[in-house]
Amino acid sequence: MTAPPAPGEWPWSAGFSSLAAERDYRVEDIDGGMPASLRGTLFRNGSGRNDLAGAWFPHWFDGDGMVSAIRFDETGLHYRNRYVRTDNYVNETREGRILYRGFGKMRPGGVLANAFRQPANVSNTSAALLGERLLTLWEGGPPFALDPRTLATLGVEDFGGKIRAFSAHPKLDPVTGELFNFGIDYGRKTTLTPYRIDSGGLTRLPPVSLPYPVMNHDFVLTERFLVFCIGPILANPLKFMLGFSSFDGALHWDGGRPTLILLIPRDGLGPPRFIEMEPFFQFHFANGFEEDGALVLDLARYPDYVAIGDALRNFWRSNFAAGGMAALTRLRVDLSSGAVESRIFKTGPAVEFPRVDPRLVGRRYRYAYIADNPPGRARGLQQRVTRVDVESGATVSHDFGPDGYAGEPIFVPSRPDGEEDEGVVLAFVFDAAERRTAVVGLDARALDAKPLFVARLKHHVPFALHGQFTERLF
Ligand SMILES: [Fe+2]
Repeated sequence: MTAPPAPGEWPWSAGFSSLAAERDYRVEDIDGGMPASLRGTLFRNGSGRNDLAGAWFPHWFDGDGMVSAIRFDETGLHYRNRYVRTDNYVNETREGRILYRGFGKMRPGGVLANAFRQPANVSNTSAALLGERLLTLWEGGPPFALDPRTLATLGVEDFGGKIRAFSAHPKLDPVTGELFNFGIDYGRKTTLTPYRIDSGGLTRLPPVSLPYPVMNHDFVLTERFLVFCIGPILANPLKFMLGFSSFDGALHWDGGRPTLILLIPRDGLGPPRFIEMEPFFQFHFANGFEEDGALVLDLARYPDYVAIGDALRNFWRSNFAAGGMAALTRLRVDLSSGAVESRIFKTGPAVEFPRVDPRLVGRRYRYAYIADNPPGRARGLQQRVTRVDVESGATVSHDFGPDGYAGEPIFVPSRPDGEEDEGVVLAFVFDAAERRTAVVGLDARALDAKPLFVARLKHHVPFALHGQFTERLF
């Protein structure tokens, strides 16, 4: 039911409550000061509505995409939010009940009401500026284009019919300006299609057949490759297509199979290469690069999809138990022998949402920013933002406890040619005591110090997933 959960049991849980209102206001309740160098717009996307007709959705990923835009300009800070006008959002809002299948939700009416229906695009996973349009991303289908100034939905963007699925983690090469992404199609064969977007538009690179249907969320861009770690989280397309289960219900972890490291040449020339290693699962990579004949991949590595799959399914009433959650891990893949070495960084438990300086995507880098929990914390959503020096292993954390829950940390450089950690780390932090969300800025070089600023919104923002900062003012 939609009644807020009892405080104390899952203290973070009210952060999943839906936010129906669409707001547009100047933020006045600010501690500290905005650095003069911080000018631009932060876009974030996530499930804004997680319940309907008195019931929570069966899975966190079913929620309707809602974009927040925070503008930092010389007059201060401005907040705006809008739902993406997907068919799912528009029609279920009008009817006040579930009409579509989702990632976990099913249409009422059983098998016949669900058979041969694809999950509705809820466009809830990330937001990326492309030229004059803001794209909201969802890996099962094409993006929606929004006006970045008003957040009004303009329509579906399928790049002239060239794409069907378009993942939520495109990678911008900071040197060449090319944007890479991929989509997975589950047909008679499962194919992964890489895309390149440059000044000439979108180009499809040769599709790669996967040996079985899998769910894959993110990838790494290096100077020569798109790199995937395809864990054995298998989908059963028949069970799904015939309407016997949701997409989530058709997924299962097969720990008897390897994780496949897949290298696709980013110039589209040459065959893909598969390297087998022991099974693991990841949603997200921090970064990766090539060095001395090896491929270095840094990721939030889960032992499998069991604990995290269960936690996401029970989101509002999950313990988010630390056991089975992710650790920040470095894989070093020897490109001649295919041998893989693994190293775990010492951080707190429940690592997620790794980000790096956008100027160093695909390049050797030093600092990853993650959300994690204090050491020894056995359960709960992440309360810290931690900077990890991936060269020395040293960490510095900012702990938002006891009532604060931090989302994805986004690093914003202070100046274009500044050093790697010269900048601000921006995060949305949900205050479970006040049931409000704050936009918090931390000095990346003094993460454990008092925040540079805490800008309290008038309301909460349901826990979001991903976003992007642009120096442009919208
Ligand atoms: Fe993601």
